Amino acid sequence: MILQEIPIQTMRPVLAILVLASASCGTWGRLPNPIDLGYGYDKDTIVFPGGTPYKVIDQFTGETNGGTWYAKNDFETAEHCGTHLDAPYHFDKNGRKVNEIPLDRLITKAILVDVSADVKDNSSYALPVKKLEEWTKTNGDIPDKSVILIKFGWGSRYPNKEQYLGPSDTDQRYPGLSEEAAQWIVDTKKFVGVGVDTLSLDRPGNPKKPNHVKILGSDMYGLENVNLTSDLPPQFDLLVMPIKLINGTGGPVRIIAH
Ligand SMILES: *[C@@H]1O[C@H](CO)[C@@H](O)[C@H](O)[C@H]1NC(C)=O
Ligand SMILES: *[C@@H]1O[C@H](CO)[C@@H](O)[C@H](O)[C@H]1NC(C)=O
Ligand SMILES: *[C@@H]1O[C@H](CO)[C@@H](O)[C@H](O)[C@H]1NC(C)=O
Ligand SMILES: [Zn+2]
Repeated sequence: MILQEIPIQTMRPVLAILVLASASCGTWGRLPNPIDLGYGYDKDTIVFPGGTPYKVIDQFTGETNGGTWYAKNDFETAEHCGTHLDAPYHFDKNGRKVNEIPLDRLITKAILVDVSADVKDNSSYALPVKKLEEWTKTNGDIPDKSVILIKFGWGSRYPNKEQYLGPSDTDQRYPGLSEEAAQWIVDTKKFVGVGVDTLSLDRPGNPKKPNHVKILGSDMYGLENVNLTSDLPPQFDLLVMPIKLINGTGGPVRIIAH
Protein backbone atom coordinates (compact mmCIF):
# COMPACT_ATOMS: atom_id res chain seq x y z
CA MET A 1 0.00 0.00 0.00
CA ILE A 2 1.45 3.36 -0.92
CA LEU A 3 1.26 6.29 1.50
CA GLN A 4 -1.24 8.40 -0.47
CA GLU A 5 -3.83 5.62 -0.18
CA ILE A 6 -3.90 5.65 3.66
CA PRO A 7 -6.92 7.68 4.77
CA ILE A 8 -5.90 10.62 6.94
CA GLN A 9 -7.95 9.29 9.90
CA THR A 10 -5.74 6.19 10.19
CA MET A 11 -2.53 8.18 9.85
CA ARG A 12 -3.13 10.43 12.83
CA PRO A 13 -2.68 7.74 15.54
CA VAL A 14 0.46 6.51 13.76
CA LEU A 15 1.94 10.00 13.79
CA ALA A 16 0.96 10.46 17.43
CA ILE A 17 2.75 7.24 18.37
CA LEU A 18 5.88 8.33 16.49
CA VAL A 19 5.90 11.69 18.25
CA LEU A 20 5.43 10.08 21.68
CA ALA A 21 8.17 7.55 21.03
CA SER A 22 10.72 10.18 20.04
CA ALA A 23 9.80 12.38 23.02
CA SER A 24 10.31 9.58 25.56
CA CYS A 25 13.63 8.56 24.00
CA GLY A 26 14.84 12.14 24.18
CA THR A 27 14.27 12.50 27.93
CA TRP A 28 17.08 10.22 29.12
CA GLY A 29 18.78 9.60 25.81
CA ARG A 30 22.23 8.21 26.40
CA LEU A 31 25.19 10.31 25.35
CA PRO A 32 26.61 9.35 21.96
CA ASN A 33 29.92 8.57 23.70
CA PRO A 34 30.79 8.16 27.39
CA ILE A 35 32.49 11.23 28.89
CA ASP A 36 35.16 11.03 31.57
CA LEU A 37 34.36 13.48 34.39
CA GLY A 38 37.58 12.88 36.31
CA TYR A 39 40.97 14.55 36.36
CA GLY A 40 43.97 12.24 36.29
CA TYR A 41 46.33 11.80 39.24
CA ASP A 42 49.82 13.19 38.89
CA LYS A 43 52.18 15.59 40.67
CA ASP A 44 49.90 18.55 39.89
CA THR A 45 46.74 16.98 41.35
CA ILE A 46 45.14 19.43 43.75
CA VAL A 47 44.75 18.12 47.28
CA PHE A 48 42.51 19.58 49.94
CA PRO A 49 44.93 21.64 52.11
CA GLY A 50 46.38 19.62 54.95
CA GLY A 51 46.14 16.31 53.09
CA THR A 52 49.03 14.26 51.68
CA PRO A 53 49.57 15.21 48.03
CA TYR A 54 49.46 12.41 45.48
CA LYS A 55 52.88 10.86 45.03
CA VAL A 56 54.10 7.89 43.03
CA ILE A 57 57.10 5.88 44.20
CA ASP A 58 58.80 3.77 41.54
CA GLN A 59 59.51 0.32 43.02
CA PHE A 60 60.83 -1.33 39.91
CA THR A 61 60.92 -0.45 36.24
CA GLY A 62 62.97 -2.55 33.90
CA GLU A 63 63.89 -6.11 33.08
CA THR A 64 64.19 -8.88 35.62
CA ASN A 65 67.21 -11.18 35.65
CA GLY A 66 65.21 -13.48 33.38
CA GLY A 67 64.76 -10.68 30.81
CA THR A 68 61.05 -10.17 31.50
CA TRP A 69 59.67 -6.63 31.49
CA TYR A 70 58.46 -5.74 34.98
CA ALA A 71 57.13 -2.46 36.40
CA LYS A 72 55.45 -1.61 39.70
CA ASN A 73 54.91 1.51 41.79
CA ASP A 74 53.56 2.51 45.15
CA PHE A 75 51.41 5.59 45.49
CA GLU A 76 50.32 7.69 48.42
CA THR A 77 47.51 10.18 48.58
CA ALA A 78 45.02 11.87 50.86
CA GLU A 79 41.51 10.47 50.57
CA HIS A 80 40.41 14.00 49.64
CA CYS A 81 42.67 14.60 46.65
CA GLY A 82 41.89 15.22 42.99
CA THR A 83 38.51 14.04 41.72
CA HIS A 84 37.18 12.34 44.82
CA LEU A 85 34.10 11.26 46.74
CA ASP A 86 33.16 12.45 50.22
CA ALA A 87 31.41 9.71 52.17
CA PRO A 88 28.64 10.73 54.60
CA TYR A 89 30.93 9.70 57.51
CA HIS A 90 33.30 12.57 56.56
CA PHE A 91 30.91 14.99 58.32
CA ASP A 92 28.48 12.66 60.11
CA LYS A 93 29.79 10.32 62.78
CA ASN A 94 26.93 7.89 62.11
CA GLY A 95 27.16 8.24 58.32
CA ARG A 96 28.12 5.64 55.75
CA LYS A 97 31.76 5.08 54.91
CA VAL A 98 32.98 4.75 51.32
CA ASN A 99 32.58 0.97 51.18
CA GLU A 100 29.07 1.19 52.65
CA ILE A 101 27.49 3.30 49.87
CA PRO A 102 24.97 1.06 48.06
CA LEU A 103 25.68 0.36 44.39
CA ASP A 104 22.28 1.65 43.28
CA ARG A 105 23.39 5.09 44.44
CA LEU A 106 26.55 4.84 42.32
CA ILE A 107 25.01 3.50 39.11
CA THR A 108 22.55 6.29 38.63
CA LYS A 109 21.42 9.39 36.75
CA ALA A 110 22.67 12.96 36.92
CA ILE A 111 21.24 16.38 36.36
CA LEU A 112 23.55 19.23 35.42
CA VAL A 113 22.96 22.77 36.62
CA ASP A 114 25.23 25.05 34.61
CA VAL A 115 25.73 28.48 36.18
CA SER A 116 29.10 29.18 34.57
CA ALA A 117 27.68 32.11 32.57
CA ASP A 118 26.56 33.78 35.83
CA VAL A 119 29.77 33.03 37.74
CA LYS A 120 32.27 34.19 35.12
CA ASP A 121 35.29 35.04 37.31
CA ASN A 122 33.36 35.78 40.49
CA SER A 123 34.92 33.67 43.23
CA SER A 124 32.39 35.07 45.72
CA TYR A 125 29.46 33.65 43.74
CA ALA A 126 26.93 31.74 45.87
CA LEU A 127 24.49 29.55 43.93
CA PRO A 128 20.97 30.87 44.62
CA VAL A 129 17.93 28.58 44.96
CA LYS A 130 16.44 30.40 41.95
CA LYS A 131 18.87 28.63 39.60
CA LEU A 132 17.76 25.22 40.91
CA GLU A 133 14.11 26.12 40.47
CA GLU A 134 14.89 27.28 36.93
CA TRP A 135 16.34 23.86 36.14
CA THR A 136 13.10 22.10 37.08
CA LYS A 137 11.00 24.67 35.17
CA THR A 138 13.04 24.08 32.02
CA ASN A 139 13.71 20.35 32.30
CA GLY A 140 10.89 18.87 34.37
CA ASP A 141 10.96 16.40 37.23
CA ILE A 142 14.16 15.28 38.88
CA PRO A 143 14.48 11.49 38.77
CA ASP A 144 14.70 9.67 42.11
CA LYS A 145 18.15 8.79 43.46
CA SER A 146 20.01 11.07 41.08
CA VAL A 147 23.18 13.10 41.47
CA ILE A 148 23.12 16.86 41.06
CA LEU A 149 26.22 18.24 39.36
CA ILE A 150 26.79 21.98 39.55
CA LYS A 151 29.00 23.58 36.93
CA PHE A 152 30.47 26.84 38.18
CA GLY A 153 32.87 26.90 35.22
CA TRP A 154 35.90 26.60 37.50
CA GLY A 155 37.31 23.53 35.73
CA SER A 156 39.13 25.51 33.03
CA ARG A 157 41.46 26.67 35.85
CA TYR A 158 42.42 23.14 36.93
CA PRO A 159 45.19 22.23 37.88
CA ASN A 160 46.56 25.77 38.22
CA LYS A 161 46.49 25.92 42.01
CA GLU A 162 46.50 29.68 42.36
CA GLN A 163 43.65 30.13 39.88
CA TYR A 164 41.65 27.15 41.10
CA LEU A 165 42.12 27.24 44.89
CA GLY A 166 43.11 30.85 45.46
CA PRO A 167 46.23 32.76 46.49
CA SER A 168 47.07 30.40 49.38
CA ASP A 169 45.76 27.49 51.46
CA THR A 170 44.57 30.00 54.07
CA ASP A 171 43.09 32.39 51.49
CA GLN A 172 40.98 30.13 49.31
CA ARG A 173 38.75 31.68 46.62
CA TYR A 174 36.17 29.82 44.57
CA PRO A 175 32.41 29.92 44.09
CA GLY A 176 29.99 27.48 45.67
CA LEU A 177 26.50 26.64 46.85
CA SER A 178 24.65 29.00 49.13
CA GLU A 179 23.39 27.38 52.33
CA GLU A 180 19.84 27.86 51.03
CA ALA A 181 20.70 25.95 47.84
CA ALA A 182 22.20 23.10 49.90
CA GLN A 183 19.02 23.03 51.97
CA TRP A 184 16.85 22.98 48.81
CA ILE A 185 18.82 19.98 47.52
CA VAL A 186 18.30 18.14 50.82
CA ASP A 187 14.60 19.03 50.98
CA THR A 188 13.78 17.62 47.51
CA LYS A 189 14.73 14.12 48.79
CA LYS A 190 15.57 13.32 45.16
CA PHE A 191 19.33 13.14 45.34
CA VAL A 192 21.92 10.60 46.46
CA GLY A 193 24.90 12.86 45.72
CA VAL A 194 26.06 16.40 45.00
CA GLY A 195 29.01 17.18 42.74
CA VAL A 196 30.90 20.40 42.04
CA ASP A 197 33.68 21.51 39.67
CA THR A 198 35.50 23.21 42.56
CA LEU A 199 37.49 22.05 45.56
CA SER A 200 34.59 21.91 48.00
CA LEU A 201 30.84 21.65 48.59
CA ASP A 202 31.34 24.65 50.86
CA ARG A 203 32.37 28.13 49.93
CA PRO A 204 35.70 29.07 51.51
CA GLY A 205 35.90 30.85 54.84
CA ASN A 206 33.28 29.16 57.00
CA PRO A 207 34.96 26.63 59.31
CA LYS A 208 31.56 25.12 60.20
CA LYS A 209 31.27 23.73 56.65
CA PRO A 210 27.47 24.03 56.67
CA ASN A 211 26.92 22.50 53.22
CA HIS A 212 29.01 19.43 54.02
CA VAL A 213 27.10 19.04 57.29
CA LYS A 214 23.70 19.36 55.58
CA ILE A 215 24.45 17.21 52.52
CA LEU A 216 26.59 14.44 54.03
CA GLY A 217 24.42 14.51 57.16
CA SER A 218 21.44 13.63 54.92
CA ASP A 219 23.09 10.41 53.70
CA MET A 220 24.22 11.90 50.40
CA TYR A 221 27.76 11.71 49.12
CA GLY A 222 29.81 14.59 47.74
CA LEU A 223 31.88 14.69 44.55
CA GLU A 224 34.58 17.34 44.41
CA ASN A 225 36.88 18.50 41.62
CA VAL A 226 34.55 16.97 39.03
CA ASN A 227 35.72 17.70 35.50
CA LEU A 228 32.68 19.41 33.97
CA THR A 229 34.58 21.17 31.19
CA SER A 230 32.93 19.03 28.48
CA ASP A 231 29.77 20.08 26.72
CA LEU A 232 27.13 18.17 28.72
CA PRO A 233 23.33 18.10 28.39
CA PRO A 234 21.08 18.86 31.41
CA GLN A 235 20.60 15.15 32.21
CA PHE A 236 22.39 11.87 31.54
CA ASP A 237 23.27 8.51 33.07
CA LEU A 238 26.12 8.49 35.55
CA LEU A 239 28.56 5.92 36.85
CA VAL A 240 30.36 6.81 40.10
CA MET A 241 33.13 4.38 41.02
CA PRO A 242 35.01 5.23 44.21
CA ILE A 243 38.00 3.19 45.34
CA LYS A 244 36.61 0.62 47.81
CA LEU A 245 38.30 1.85 50.97
CA ILE A 246 37.00 0.03 54.04
CA ASN A 247 35.96 2.76 56.51
CA GLY A 248 37.12 5.46 54.08
CA THR A 249 35.93 9.02 54.75
CA GLY A 250 36.33 9.61 51.03
CA GLY A 251 38.54 8.51 48.20
CA PRO A 252 39.57 8.79 44.56
CA VAL A 253 36.68 8.16 42.17
CA ARG A 254 36.07 7.52 38.49
CA ILE A 255 32.98 9.35 37.25
CA ILE A 256 31.60 8.60 33.81
CA ALA A 257 28.71 10.39 32.12
CA HIS A 258 27.07 8.11 29.53
C1 LIG B 1 38.54 17.17 31.41
O1 LIG B 1 37.78 16.26 30.62
C2 LIG B 1 37.92 16.42 29.23
C3 LIG B 1 36.98 15.41 28.59
O2 LIG B 1 37.22 14.12 29.08
C4 LIG B 1 39.37 16.22 28.85
O3 LIG B 1 39.53 16.46 27.47
C5 LIG B 1 40.25 17.19 29.65
O4 LIG B 1 41.60 16.93 29.37
C6 LIG B 1 40.01 17.02 31.13
N1 LIG B 1 40.78 18.03 31.87
C7 LIG B 1 41.83 17.73 32.63
C8 LIG B 1 42.54 18.87 33.27
O5 LIG B 1 42.18 16.56 32.83
C1 LIG C 1 29.63 37.88 43.00
O1 LIG C 1 28.66 37.05 43.61
C2 LIG C 1 28.16 37.58 44.83
C3 LIG C 1 27.28 36.52 45.50
O2 LIG C 1 26.55 35.74 44.59
C4 LIG C 1 27.41 38.86 44.52
O3 LIG C 1 26.91 39.42 45.74
C5 LIG C 1 28.37 39.84 43.87
O4 LIG C 1 27.67 40.99 43.49
C6 LIG C 1 28.99 39.23 42.64
N1 LIG C 1 30.04 40.11 42.11
C7 LIG C 1 30.11 40.45 40.83
C8 LIG C 1 31.24 41.33 40.44
O5 LIG C 1 29.29 40.05 40.00
C1 LIG D 1 36.52 -0.48 60.16
O1 LIG D 1 35.80 -0.04 61.27
C2 LIG D 1 35.34 -1.12 62.09
C3 LIG D 1 34.42 -0.52 63.16
O2 LIG D 1 35.06 0.53 63.81
C4 LIG D 1 36.56 -1.85 62.66
O3 LIG D 1 36.13 -2.95 63.43
C5 LIG D 1 37.43 -2.36 61.51
O4 LIG D 1 38.61 -2.92 62.02
C6 LIG D 1 37.79 -1.22 60.59
N1 LIG D 1 38.50 -1.72 59.43
C7 LIG D 1 39.45 -1.05 58.81
C8 LIG D 1 40.09 -1.70 57.65
O5 LIG D 1 39.78 0.10 59.14
ZN1 LIG E 1 36.40 15.78 50.11
